[in-house]
Amino acid sequence: MSYRALDAPIDVLARHLTKATLTTWLILIVNALLVVILLNALRQKILPRNASHPPIVFHWFPIIGSAIWYGNDPIAFFQTCQERYGNVFTFILLGRKVTVALTPKGSNFVLGGKSTAFNAEEAYKLLGVVYDVPNEIFMQQKKFVKSGFSTENLRAYVGMVEEEVAEFVKTDRRFRTPGLTSADEWGSFDAVGAMAEITILTAARTLQGKEVRDNMDKSFSQLYADLDGGFTPLNFLFPNLPLPSYRKRDAAQKKMSEFYIDIMTKRKENPDDNHHYDMIASATLAWTSFTLPLAPMNTVYEEQVERFSNPDGTLRPIGYDDLCSLPVLDSCLRETLRMHPPIHSIMRQVREDVPVPPTLAAPSEDEIYIIPKGTYVLASPLILQIDPGIWDDAKKWNPARWNDEYGIATQGSSVVSKGTESPYKPFGAGKHRCIGEQVMFCHP
Ligand code: HEM
Repeated sequence: MSYRALDAPIDVLARHLTKATLTTWLILIVNALLVVILLNALRQKILPRNASHPPIVFHWFPIIGSAIWYGNDPIAFFQTCQERYGNVFTFILLGRKVTVALTPKGSNFVLGGKSTAFNAEEAYKLLGVVYDVPNEIFMQQKKFVKSGFSTENLRAYVGMVEEEVAEFVKTDRRFRTPGLTSADEWGSFDAVGAMAEITILTAARTLQGKEVRDNMDKSFSQLYADLDGGFTPLNFLFPNLPLPSYRKRDAAQKKMSEFYIDIMTKRKENPDDNHHYDMIASATLAWTSFTLPLAPMNTVYEEQVERFSNPDGTLRPIGYDDLCSLPVLDSCLRETLRMHPPIHSIMRQVREDVPVPPTLAAPSEDEIYIIPKGTYVLASPLILQIDPGIWDDAKKWNPARWNDEYGIATQGSSVVSKGTESPYKPFGAGKHRCIGEQVMFCHP
Protein backbone atom coordinates (compact mmCIF):
# COMPACT_ATOMS: atom_id res chain seq x y z
CA MET A 1 0.00 0.00 0.00
CA SER A 2 1.36 3.42 -0.92
CA TYR A 3 1.60 6.34 1.50
CA ARG A 4 -0.84 8.19 -0.72
CA ALA A 5 -3.47 5.50 -0.15
CA LEU A 6 -3.10 5.98 3.59
CA ASP A 7 -3.47 9.79 3.31
CA ALA A 8 -7.21 9.74 2.60
CA PRO A 9 -8.39 7.97 5.78
CA ILE A 10 -5.94 10.07 7.86
CA ASP A 11 -7.41 13.23 6.35
CA VAL A 12 -10.93 12.08 7.18
CA LEU A 13 -9.86 11.18 10.72
CA ALA A 14 -8.11 14.54 11.17
CA ARG A 15 -11.19 16.43 9.92
CA HIS A 16 -13.43 14.37 12.17
CA LEU A 17 -11.16 15.01 15.14
CA THR A 18 -11.01 18.76 14.43
CA LYS A 19 -14.80 18.87 14.24
CA ALA A 20 -15.13 16.84 17.41
CA THR A 21 -12.54 18.98 19.22
CA LEU A 22 -14.26 22.16 18.14
CA THR A 23 -17.65 20.91 19.33
CA THR A 24 -16.11 19.79 22.63
CA TRP A 25 -14.52 23.18 23.12
CA LEU A 26 -17.76 24.96 22.32
CA ILE A 27 -19.67 22.82 24.81
CA LEU A 28 -16.98 23.44 27.42
CA ILE A 29 -17.06 27.20 26.90
CA VAL A 30 -20.87 27.40 27.01
CA ASN A 31 -20.94 25.27 30.16
CA ALA A 32 -18.22 27.34 31.80
CA LEU A 33 -20.18 30.50 31.01
CA LEU A 34 -23.36 28.98 32.45
CA VAL A 35 -21.49 28.02 35.62
CA VAL A 36 -20.05 31.53 35.96
CA ILE A 37 -23.51 33.07 35.47
CA LEU A 38 -25.06 30.67 37.97
CA LEU A 39 -22.35 31.22 40.56
CA ASN A 40 -22.68 34.97 40.12
CA ALA A 41 -26.46 34.76 40.69
CA LEU A 42 -26.09 32.43 43.69
CA ARG A 43 -23.42 34.64 45.23
CA GLN A 44 -25.82 37.59 45.13
CA LYS A 45 -28.79 35.60 46.45
CA ILE A 46 -27.09 33.46 49.12
CA LEU A 47 -23.94 35.13 50.43
CA PRO A 48 -24.52 37.86 53.00
CA ARG A 49 -23.62 41.23 51.53
CA ASN A 50 -21.65 43.99 53.24
CA ALA A 51 -24.43 45.80 55.13
CA SER A 52 -22.52 49.07 55.23
CA HIS A 53 -22.51 49.28 51.41
CA PRO A 54 -25.69 50.25 49.50
CA PRO A 55 -27.69 47.33 48.01
CA ILE A 56 -26.43 46.01 44.67
CA VAL A 57 -28.85 45.66 41.75
CA PHE A 58 -29.26 41.96 40.88
CA HIS A 59 -27.58 41.10 37.58
CA TRP A 60 -27.08 37.82 35.70
CA PHE A 61 -23.83 38.61 33.91
CA PRO A 62 -20.65 39.43 35.83
CA ILE A 63 -18.71 42.47 34.55
CA ILE A 64 -21.49 43.49 32.13
CA GLY A 65 -23.74 43.88 35.17
CA SER A 66 -26.77 46.09 34.47
CA ALA A 67 -25.12 47.96 31.57
CA ILE A 68 -27.58 46.76 28.92
CA TRP A 69 -30.72 47.63 30.92
CA TYR A 70 -29.29 51.00 32.01
CA GLY A 71 -28.07 51.83 28.51
CA ASN A 72 -31.28 50.83 26.74
CA ASP A 73 -33.84 52.37 29.06
CA PRO A 74 -32.39 54.52 31.85
CA ILE A 75 -35.82 55.72 33.02
CA ALA A 76 -37.22 52.20 33.52
CA PHE A 77 -33.91 51.09 35.06
CA PHE A 78 -33.73 53.90 37.63
CA GLN A 79 -37.43 53.81 38.51
CA THR A 80 -37.62 50.00 38.88
CA CYS A 81 -34.46 49.95 41.01
CA GLN A 82 -35.80 52.81 43.15
CA GLU A 83 -38.93 50.74 43.86
CA ARG A 84 -36.84 47.65 44.70
CA TYR A 85 -33.87 49.09 46.55
CA GLY A 86 -34.73 52.66 47.63
CA ASN A 87 -33.14 55.99 46.78
CA VAL A 88 -29.55 54.79 46.98
CA PHE A 89 -28.37 51.62 45.23
CA THR A 90 -25.30 50.36 43.41
CA PHE A 91 -25.19 48.75 39.98
CA ILE A 92 -22.42 47.14 37.98
CA LEU A 93 -21.57 49.04 34.82
CA LEU A 94 -19.01 47.18 32.73
CA GLY A 95 -16.90 46.10 35.65
CA ARG A 96 -17.32 49.27 37.67
CA LYS A 97 -19.49 49.89 40.71
CA VAL A 98 -21.76 52.91 40.29
CA THR A 99 -23.90 54.10 43.21
CA VAL A 100 -27.02 55.99 42.16
CA ALA A 101 -28.37 58.67 44.51
CA LEU A 102 -31.91 59.70 43.56
CA THR A 103 -34.19 62.53 44.81
CA PRO A 104 -33.03 66.16 45.23
CA LYS A 105 -31.11 65.15 48.37
CA GLY A 106 -29.22 62.48 46.39
CA SER A 107 -28.40 65.01 43.72
CA ASN A 108 -27.15 67.42 46.35
CA PHE A 109 -24.99 64.63 47.79
CA VAL A 110 -23.32 63.91 44.42
CA LEU A 111 -23.07 67.40 42.92
CA GLY A 112 -22.67 69.46 46.08
CA GLY A 113 -19.98 67.30 47.71
CA LYS A 114 -16.39 68.52 48.08
CA SER A 115 -14.35 68.05 44.92
CA THR A 116 -11.54 66.30 46.80
CA ALA A 117 -13.97 63.43 47.46
CA PHE A 118 -16.10 63.51 44.27
CA ASN A 119 -14.03 63.77 41.14
CA ALA A 120 -15.50 64.57 37.73
CA GLU A 121 -12.26 64.32 35.76
CA GLU A 122 -11.68 60.69 36.69
CA ALA A 123 -15.28 59.76 35.90
CA TYR A 124 -15.12 61.21 32.40
CA LYS A 125 -11.48 60.45 31.66
CA LEU A 126 -12.50 56.92 30.78
CA LEU A 127 -14.47 58.31 27.88
CA GLY A 128 -11.59 60.56 26.86
CA VAL A 129 -13.79 63.37 25.67
CA VAL A 130 -13.96 66.52 27.76
CA TYR A 131 -11.37 66.12 30.49
CA ASP A 132 -8.42 65.19 28.33
CA VAL A 133 -6.18 67.78 30.05
CA PRO A 134 -5.18 68.32 33.69
CA ASN A 135 -7.76 70.02 35.91
CA GLU A 136 -6.01 73.41 36.08
CA ILE A 137 -5.81 73.60 32.25
CA PHE A 138 -9.43 72.53 31.96
CA MET A 139 -10.50 75.25 34.40
CA GLN A 140 -8.58 77.80 32.28
CA GLN A 141 -10.32 76.53 29.16
CA LYS A 142 -13.70 76.71 30.90
CA LYS A 143 -13.07 80.31 31.98
CA PHE A 144 -11.91 81.15 28.47
CA VAL A 145 -15.01 79.67 26.85
CA LYS A 146 -17.26 81.34 29.43
CA SER A 147 -15.77 84.74 28.66
CA GLY A 148 -17.10 84.27 25.14
CA PHE A 149 -20.66 84.30 26.48
CA SER A 150 -20.67 87.87 27.80
CA THR A 151 -23.80 89.83 26.84
CA GLU A 152 -21.63 91.92 24.51
CA ASN A 153 -20.44 88.83 22.65
CA LEU A 154 -23.88 87.23 22.60
CA ARG A 155 -25.24 90.42 21.00
CA ALA A 156 -22.63 90.07 18.28
CA TYR A 157 -23.37 86.37 17.78
CA VAL A 158 -27.10 86.87 17.06
CA GLY A 159 -26.52 88.41 13.62
CA MET A 160 -23.97 85.73 12.74
CA VAL A 161 -26.33 82.92 13.72
CA GLU A 162 -29.17 84.51 11.75
CA GLU A 163 -26.95 84.80 8.69
CA GLU A 164 -25.76 81.19 8.96
CA VAL A 165 -29.28 79.80 9.40
CA ALA A 166 -30.72 81.89 6.55
CA GLU A 167 -27.93 80.72 4.22
CA PHE A 168 -28.41 77.12 5.31
CA VAL A 169 -32.17 77.15 4.70
CA LYS A 170 -31.65 78.85 1.34
CA THR A 171 -29.04 76.39 0.07
CA ASP A 172 -29.59 73.06 1.81
CA ARG A 173 -31.30 70.40 -0.31
CA ARG A 174 -33.44 69.29 2.67
CA PHE A 175 -35.32 72.56 2.53
CA ARG A 176 -36.17 72.13 -1.13
CA THR A 177 -39.35 70.08 -1.07
CA PRO A 178 -40.38 68.84 -4.52
CA GLY A 179 -43.85 69.93 -5.47
CA LEU A 180 -43.90 73.05 -3.29
CA THR A 181 -44.01 76.26 -5.19
CA SER A 182 -44.29 78.85 -2.48
CA ALA A 183 -42.61 79.47 0.87
CA ASP A 184 -46.09 79.64 2.45
CA GLU A 185 -46.67 75.93 1.83
CA TRP A 186 -45.56 73.40 4.43
CA GLY A 187 -43.01 70.66 3.78
CA SER A 188 -40.91 68.44 6.01
CA PHE A 189 -37.19 67.97 6.60
CA ASP A 190 -34.77 65.73 8.46
CA ALA A 191 -34.67 67.78 11.67
CA VAL A 192 -31.98 65.79 13.49
CA GLY A 193 -29.43 65.91 10.64
CA ALA A 194 -30.15 69.52 9.74
CA MET A 195 -30.01 70.72 13.36
CA ALA A 196 -26.69 68.91 13.88
CA GLU A 197 -25.17 70.64 10.86
CA ILE A 198 -26.61 74.06 11.71
CA THR A 199 -25.30 73.70 15.26
CA ILE A 200 -21.77 72.90 14.16
CA LEU A 201 -21.71 75.71 11.61
CA THR A 202 -23.17 78.39 13.90
CA ALA A 203 -20.97 77.32 16.82
CA ALA A 204 -17.90 77.50 14.59
CA ARG A 205 -18.84 80.90 13.23
CA THR A 206 -19.59 82.46 16.61
CA LEU A 207 -17.20 80.77 19.02
CA GLN A 208 -14.31 79.91 16.79
CA GLY A 209 -14.13 82.65 14.20
CA LYS A 210 -14.84 83.36 10.59
CA GLU A 211 -11.80 81.65 9.13
CA VAL A 212 -12.64 78.46 11.01
CA ARG A 213 -16.16 78.62 9.62
CA ASP A 214 -14.98 79.47 6.11
CA ASN A 215 -12.70 76.44 6.07
CA MET A 216 -15.39 74.15 7.32
CA ASP A 217 -18.02 72.42 5.23
CA LYS A 218 -21.11 70.49 6.25
CA SER A 219 -19.17 67.23 6.28
CA PHE A 220 -17.58 68.50 9.48
CA SER A 221 -20.72 67.49 11.38
CA GLN A 222 -19.98 63.91 10.26
CA LEU A 223 -16.65 64.16 12.09
CA TYR A 224 -18.51 65.11 15.26
CA ALA A 225 -20.89 62.19 14.68
CA ASP A 226 -17.86 59.87 14.29
CA LEU A 227 -16.37 61.21 17.51
CA ASP A 228 -19.71 60.70 19.20
CA GLY A 229 -19.85 57.11 17.93
CA GLY A 230 -16.71 56.40 19.97
CA PHE A 231 -18.45 57.68 23.10
CA THR A 232 -20.39 54.57 24.10
CA PRO A 233 -20.61 52.45 27.29
CA LEU A 234 -18.21 50.00 25.61
CA ASN A 235 -15.48 52.66 25.94
CA PHE A 236 -15.71 52.31 29.69
CA LEU A 237 -14.44 48.78 29.46
CA PHE A 238 -12.27 48.77 26.34
CA PRO A 239 -11.04 52.19 25.23
CA ASN A 240 -9.05 50.75 22.31
CA LEU A 241 -10.70 47.94 20.39
CA PRO A 242 -10.05 47.18 16.69
CA LEU A 243 -13.62 48.14 15.78
CA PRO A 244 -14.74 50.31 12.81
CA SER A 245 -16.42 52.80 15.18
CA TYR A 246 -13.13 53.24 17.08
CA ARG A 247 -11.17 53.69 13.83
CA LYS A 248 -13.67 56.33 12.68
CA ARG A 249 -13.45 58.06 16.08
CA ASP A 250 -9.64 58.20 15.92
CA ALA A 251 -9.62 59.35 12.29
CA ALA A 252 -12.12 62.12 13.13
CA GLN A 253 -10.04 63.18 16.13
CA LYS A 254 -6.89 63.34 13.96
CA LYS A 255 -8.61 65.28 11.19
CA MET A 256 -10.05 67.79 13.65
CA SER A 257 -6.72 68.26 15.43
CA GLU A 258 -4.96 68.93 12.11
CA PHE A 259 -7.68 71.38 11.09
CA TYR A 260 -7.44 73.41 14.31
CA ILE A 261 -3.66 73.23 14.65
CA ASP A 262 -3.35 74.61 11.13
CA ILE A 263 -5.65 77.55 12.00
CA MET A 264 -3.89 78.25 15.30
CA THR A 265 -0.52 78.28 13.52
CA LYS A 266 -1.85 80.79 10.99
CA ARG A 267 -3.24 82.96 13.80
CA LYS A 268 0.11 82.94 15.56
CA GLU A 269 1.76 84.04 12.30
CA ASN A 270 -0.73 86.93 11.90
CA PRO A 271 -1.45 88.07 15.46
CA ASP A 272 -2.83 91.41 14.25
CA ASP A 273 -5.86 89.91 12.59
CA ASN A 274 -9.04 90.98 14.34
CA HIS A 275 -10.41 88.07 16.36
CA HIS A 276 -12.36 90.14 18.84
CA TYR A 277 -15.28 87.76 18.93
CA ASP A 278 -13.37 84.60 18.11
CA MET A 279 -12.54 81.73 20.35
CA ILE A 280 -10.90 78.37 20.02
CA ALA A 281 -11.69 75.98 22.82
CA SER A 282 -10.50 72.42 23.03
CA ALA A 283 -13.46 71.32 25.13
CA THR A 284 -16.03 69.49 23.10
CA LEU A 285 -18.85 71.83 22.23
CA ALA A 286 -21.85 70.34 23.87
CA TRP A 287 -24.35 72.12 21.66
CA THR A 288 -27.42 70.09 21.63
CA SER A 289 -29.97 70.23 18.91
CA PHE A 290 -33.47 70.36 20.21
CA THR A 291 -36.69 69.80 18.40
CA LEU A 292 -40.11 71.10 19.05
CA PRO A 293 -42.22 68.27 17.66
CA LEU A 294 -44.91 68.69 20.30
CA ALA A 295 -44.85 72.46 20.44
CA PRO A 296 -48.09 74.39 20.10
CA MET A 297 -46.85 75.48 16.70
CA ASN A 298 -49.51 78.10 16.22
CA THR A 299 -48.46 80.00 19.35
CA VAL A 300 -44.73 79.62 18.70
CA TYR A 301 -45.28 80.74 15.11
CA GLU A 302 -47.56 83.61 16.12
CA GLU A 303 -44.97 84.83 18.61
CA GLN A 304 -42.29 84.80 15.91
CA VAL A 305 -44.50 86.61 13.40
CA GLU A 306 -45.53 89.19 15.98
CA ARG A 307 -41.91 89.91 16.98
CA PHE A 308 -40.14 89.79 13.68
CA SER A 309 -42.50 90.68 10.82
CA ASN A 310 -42.68 94.05 9.12
CA PRO A 311 -46.07 95.46 8.06
CA ASP A 312 -45.29 94.47 4.45
CA GLY A 313 -44.88 90.79 5.43
CA THR A 314 -41.08 90.74 5.24
CA LEU A 315 -38.97 89.82 8.29
CA ARG A 316 -36.78 92.28 10.14
CA PRO A 317 -33.34 91.35 11.50
CA ILE A 318 -33.32 89.64 14.89
CA GLY A 319 -31.73 91.47 17.83
CA TYR A 320 -30.39 90.00 21.06
CA ASP A 321 -33.08 91.79 23.11
CA ASP A 322 -35.81 90.27 20.91
CA LEU A 323 -34.55 86.83 21.82
CA CYS A 324 -34.85 87.70 25.49
CA SER A 325 -38.56 88.41 25.18
CA LEU A 326 -39.98 85.29 23.56
CA PRO A 327 -41.87 83.69 26.47
CA VAL A 328 -43.59 81.00 24.39
CA LEU A 329 -40.39 79.74 22.78
CA ASP A 330 -38.58 80.07 26.10
CA SER A 331 -41.13 77.87 27.91
CA CYS A 332 -41.02 75.29 25.08
CA LEU A 333 -37.24 75.05 25.43
CA ARG A 334 -37.39 74.77 29.21
CA GLU A 335 -40.02 72.07 28.99
CA THR A 336 -38.09 70.14 26.31
CA LEU A 337 -35.00 70.24 28.51
CA ARG A 338 -37.11 69.05 31.45
CA MET A 339 -38.37 65.95 29.67
CA HIS A 340 -35.38 65.29 27.42
CA PRO A 341 -32.21 66.51 29.11
CA PRO A 342 -29.32 65.56 26.79
CA ILE A 343 -27.30 64.41 29.82
CA HIS A 344 -29.41 61.97 31.83
CA SER A 345 -26.66 60.84 34.22
CA ILE A 346 -23.90 62.84 35.86
CA MET A 347 -21.08 60.78 37.37
CA ARG A 348 -18.23 61.35 39.78
CA GLN A 349 -15.47 59.06 40.98
CA VAL A 350 -15.28 58.71 44.76
CA ARG A 351 -11.72 59.42 45.96
CA GLU A 352 -12.16 58.52 49.62
CA ASP A 353 -14.69 56.41 51.57
CA VAL A 354 -17.77 58.65 51.73
CA PRO A 355 -20.62 58.28 54.26
CA VAL A 356 -24.15 58.60 52.86
CA PRO A 357 -26.22 61.11 54.90
CA PRO A 358 -28.83 59.10 56.84
CA THR A 359 -31.49 61.59 55.72
CA LEU A 360 -30.91 60.26 52.19
CA ALA A 361 -30.66 56.51 52.91
CA ALA A 362 -29.40 54.21 55.68
CA PRO A 363 -29.40 50.44 56.39
CA SER A 364 -31.04 51.02 59.79
CA GLU A 365 -31.62 53.76 62.32
CA ASP A 366 -28.19 53.53 63.90
CA GLU A 367 -26.12 52.54 60.88
CA ILE A 368 -24.96 54.38 57.80
CA TYR A 369 -23.94 53.43 54.29
CA ILE A 370 -20.39 54.00 53.11
CA ILE A 371 -19.53 54.45 49.44
CA PRO A 372 -16.07 52.92 49.00
CA LYS A 373 -13.14 54.81 47.53
CA GLY A 374 -12.49 54.09 43.85
CA THR A 375 -16.14 53.47 42.95
CA TYR A 376 -18.48 55.92 41.21
CA VAL A 377 -21.58 57.92 42.18
CA LEU A 378 -24.32 59.05 39.84
CA ALA A 379 -27.03 61.74 39.97
CA SER A 380 -29.77 61.77 37.37
CA PRO A 381 -31.28 65.11 36.27
CA LEU A 382 -33.71 63.15 34.12
CA ILE A 383 -35.32 61.22 36.98
CA LEU A 384 -35.66 64.37 39.10
CA GLN A 385 -37.24 66.24 36.22
CA ILE A 386 -39.95 63.65 35.64
CA ASP A 387 -40.55 62.79 39.30
CA PRO A 388 -44.36 62.70 39.78
CA GLY A 389 -43.81 63.52 43.47
CA ILE A 390 -42.34 66.86 42.41
CA TRP A 391 -43.99 67.83 39.12
CA ASP A 392 -47.72 67.91 38.32
CA ASP A 393 -48.52 65.66 35.41
CA ALA A 394 -44.77 64.95 35.22
CA LYS A 395 -44.85 62.89 32.02
CA LYS A 396 -46.86 65.43 30.07
CA TRP A 397 -44.98 67.86 27.86
CA ASN A 398 -46.64 71.05 29.00
CA PRO A 399 -44.74 74.30 28.34
CA ALA A 400 -47.53 76.25 30.03
CA ARG A 401 -46.24 75.05 33.42
CA TRP A 402 -43.40 77.57 33.02
CA ASN A 403 -45.91 80.42 32.99
CA ASP A 404 -48.18 79.06 35.73
CA GLU A 405 -47.62 81.37 38.69
CA TYR A 406 -48.85 78.70 41.12
CA GLY A 407 -46.83 75.79 39.65
CA ILE A 408 -43.52 74.48 40.95
CA ALA A 409 -41.64 75.63 37.86
CA THR A 410 -42.19 79.29 38.72
CA GLN A 411 -41.82 79.10 42.48
CA GLY A 412 -38.64 81.16 42.43
CA SER A 413 -35.19 80.35 43.61
CA SER A 414 -36.21 77.96 46.38
CA VAL A 415 -37.46 75.23 44.03
CA VAL A 416 -36.11 75.55 40.49
CA SER A 417 -32.76 77.19 41.04
CA LYS A 418 -29.06 76.79 40.35
CA GLY A 419 -28.68 74.99 43.68
CA THR A 420 -27.52 71.40 43.85
CA GLU A 421 -30.85 70.40 45.43
CA SER A 422 -32.99 71.87 42.64
CA PRO A 423 -35.25 69.35 40.87
CA TYR A 424 -34.51 71.02 37.51
CA LYS A 425 -30.92 70.47 36.39
CA PRO A 426 -30.54 70.11 32.63
CA PHE A 427 -27.30 72.12 32.98
CA GLY A 428 -26.04 70.26 36.06
CA ALA A 429 -25.16 72.03 39.30
CA GLY A 430 -22.24 72.80 41.58
CA LYS A 431 -18.62 73.23 40.55
CA HIS A 432 -19.04 71.61 37.14
CA ARG A 433 -22.26 73.35 36.18
CA CYS A 434 -22.57 74.04 32.47
CA ILE A 435 -21.24 77.34 31.15
CA GLY A 436 -23.41 77.24 28.04
CA GLU A 437 -26.75 78.07 29.65
CA GLN A 438 -26.54 81.74 28.64
CA VAL A 439 -26.51 80.61 25.04
CA MET A 440 -29.89 78.94 25.50
CA PHE A 441 -31.58 81.44 27.80
CA CYS A 442 -31.05 85.16 28.32
CA HIS A 443 -32.21 84.90 31.94
CA PRO A 444 -31.06 81.59 33.37
C1 HEM B 1 -28.75 72.51 25.62
C2 HEM B 1 -27.51 72.81 25.82
C3 HEM B 1 -26.64 72.24 26.91
C4 HEM B 1 -26.93 71.35 27.91
C5 HEM B 1 -28.27 70.69 28.24
C6 HEM B 1 -25.72 71.16 28.68
C7 HEM B 1 -25.63 70.34 29.81
C8 HEM B 1 -24.51 70.25 30.61
C9 HEM B 1 -24.43 69.52 31.87
C10 HEM B 1 -25.55 68.72 32.52
C11 HEM B 1 -23.17 69.69 32.37
C12 HEM B 1 -22.65 69.15 33.71
C13 HEM B 1 -21.76 67.93 33.55
C14 HEM B 1 -21.22 67.47 34.89
O1 HEM B 1 -21.51 68.03 35.94
O2 HEM B 1 -20.45 66.49 34.88
C15 HEM B 1 -22.45 70.48 31.41
C16 HEM B 1 -21.14 70.85 31.56
C17 HEM B 1 -20.46 71.62 30.65
N1 HEM B 1 -20.98 72.27 29.56
FE1 HEM B 1 -22.84 72.12 28.87
N2 HEM B 1 -24.73 71.90 28.11
C18 HEM B 1 -25.26 72.59 27.03
C19 HEM B 1 -24.60 73.49 26.22
C20 HEM B 1 -23.29 73.85 26.36
C21 HEM B 1 -22.60 74.83 25.53
C22 HEM B 1 -23.22 75.63 24.41
C23 HEM B 1 -21.31 74.88 26.00
C24 HEM B 1 -20.17 75.73 25.55
C25 HEM B 1 -19.71 75.93 24.44
C26 HEM B 1 -21.19 73.96 27.10
C27 HEM B 1 -20.04 73.73 27.81
C28 HEM B 1 -19.95 72.95 28.94
C29 HEM B 1 -18.71 72.72 29.67
C30 HEM B 1 -17.34 73.28 29.31
C31 HEM B 1 -19.04 71.88 30.75
C32 HEM B 1 -18.09 71.29 31.76
C33 HEM B 1 -18.06 72.10 33.02
C34 HEM B 1 -17.16 71.47 34.08
O3 HEM B 1 -16.98 70.27 34.15
O4 HEM B 1 -16.64 72.20 34.87
N3 HEM B 1 -22.41 73.35 27.30
N4 HEM B 1 -23.28 70.82 30.36
